[in-house]
This record gives sequence, structure tokens and C-alpha cells, in this order.
Amino acid sequence: MIISGKELSARMKADMAAEVAALGTKYGRVPHLVVLLVGDDPGSVSYVTGKAKACDAVGIRNTTIRRPADTTEEEVLRIIAELNADEGVDGILVQLPLPRHISEERVIAAIGREKDVDGFHPLNVAALWMKQPCTLPCTPKGILRMLHTAGVELEGRRAVVVGRSNIVGLPVAKLLLDANATVTVAHSRTRGLADVTRGAEILVVAIGRPRFITGDMISEGAVVIDVGVNRDPETGRLCGDVDFETASSKASYITPVPGGVGPMTIACLMENTIECFRRKKER
Ligand code: GUN
Repeated sequence: MIISGKELSARMKADMAAEVAALGTKYGRVPHLVVLLVGDDPGSVSYVTGKAKACDAVGIRNTTIRRPADTTEEEVLRIIAELNADEGVDGILVQLPLPRHISEERVIAAIGREKDVDGFHPLNVAALWMKQPCTLPCTPKGILRMLHTAGVELEGRRAVVVGRSNIVGLPVAKLLLDANATVTVAHSRTRGLADVTRGAEILVVAIGRPRFITGDMISEGAVVIDVGVNRDPETGRLCGDVDFETASSKASYITPVPGGVGPMTIACLMENTIECFRRKKER
């Protein structure tokens, strides 16, 4: 069975469109997301375009600020300070990765916590790990939503996360743990990785290597969530971290690439933007 992020995200966006329209009537303006893109990495440009399109579909006001790759860190911090102070801005997203001369850590920490729609700010990360109210990072949130919607039971089950990034691997492991799964975090240095992944009832793969996880590394009936967005080195087409052909004959549920986790990440970004707006208006 394929878990379609495309279909689920379309339903979420339709619901949010109605919600945003009602918020506009109630408060005299709609939520406003500002995306800052530094440089012209093709992947980042395409993500940012996707975000703007989704905002338009949901009715969220959106602004994209583009700056060249040689923009200084001071200039980026100045833009963020301005957006923090702007009452008409509800969410700020700085597209990652940033050019190497700019500290992602300093930039993320500079975003006002209450406008951090990515959930990357240190205070939001701390709140997640302490089970306090927080903005959840979009990709992990989208993954948990897909599992829930597909009716996948997590409690007491063996989940393996391949990848340990701050954006996906670590927070998704924490959310699975909070759902009472038994979680193993594996990564590029894990010895006997295939034995570890074969032990998974739920397998989340976010390692960033095309078709890295093959059918023989998956146990019969596992639920497979593929977070990868790669170019297939042979065909040049978009592909995941999981080899869909061999994996889908073993899995009970699997997410495709494209049309799986990606659209859910964007839908959850829309949700987070609405949440930030509501918290501001309703506090
Ligand atoms: N680059 C890749 N994924 C993400 C994300 O979720 N948020 C931001 N800001 N940049 C990214």
C-alpha cells in the first residue's frame, strides 16, 4: 500500500484554506510567511517555489526575499531583526543550507522563537525534547501525520530511523519515542546496518543517498517512510533514499518519492504558520 503524501497534503490544504479565510474575516488580515533565500542552489530554489505555491493555494500571504550568495552574515541578521520587529510578519523561514560563510546556528538563533515556523530555534528544540508545547519541525510532523492517518500502530513497536540530522533524524526519533515506539537511530557509521534495518517494523530513512535502502534490508510487512530527495545518478530523475521497486514488494506501507514526505512537509509548514499567527492573535 502506498501512503500518498500528495493526497493527504491536498486534503490538509483544502481544510486550511477554509480556516485561513475565516481567520482573515475575524482578524482583518491573513497569516504572513516570509521566506529568506540566500544564493541560488537549484534544490533550494525549487523548495522555495513550492512553498510559495502552497501558500497561494491556502491563502497565506507570502513574501520571498532573495539575496545573492555573497550576502554577508550581518546583512542576513539585519533582515531577520527587521522581520522579527514587523507586527505584520507571523512566520520566518530561512532556507537551508546557507552559503558556507554564514553561520546557520547564529542565523537560526536570531529568528524570534514565536516566528520560528521550522521549529529549529534552540528554544523550540529544547521544548520538543522536554515534551513542552513547541513548534514541531515540518518533516517529522508530516511523517507522524502520515503514520497516524494510515492507521499505523506505533506503541511498543520497533522503529528504526536511518539518519541523525537536526532537521529530520533526531526530531522524528523523539516523536516516535513520544508515541511509545522502541526507537533505534542508525546512521552512516552504523555497523551491520542491514541487520538493524531488518529489525524494523517501522523504518524511516533520511540519509540523503539515492536508493541506499534496498528490499533485502527490509523485513516483510514493514512500514517504510522515505525522506530522501535525490537525483538518480543514472537517469537524472528524482528518487528517494529507498529503492522503491525492491522495497515495495516487502513493505506493507511505503511512501513514494516524489509525492510522499515532501508535500507533507510543505503542508505542515502551512500549519505551523497558521499556528504562529493564532498564538499571536489569541494570546
Ligand atoms: N532545507 C531542507 N529542508 C529544510 C527545511 O525543512 N527548512 C529549511 N528552512 N530549510 C530546509
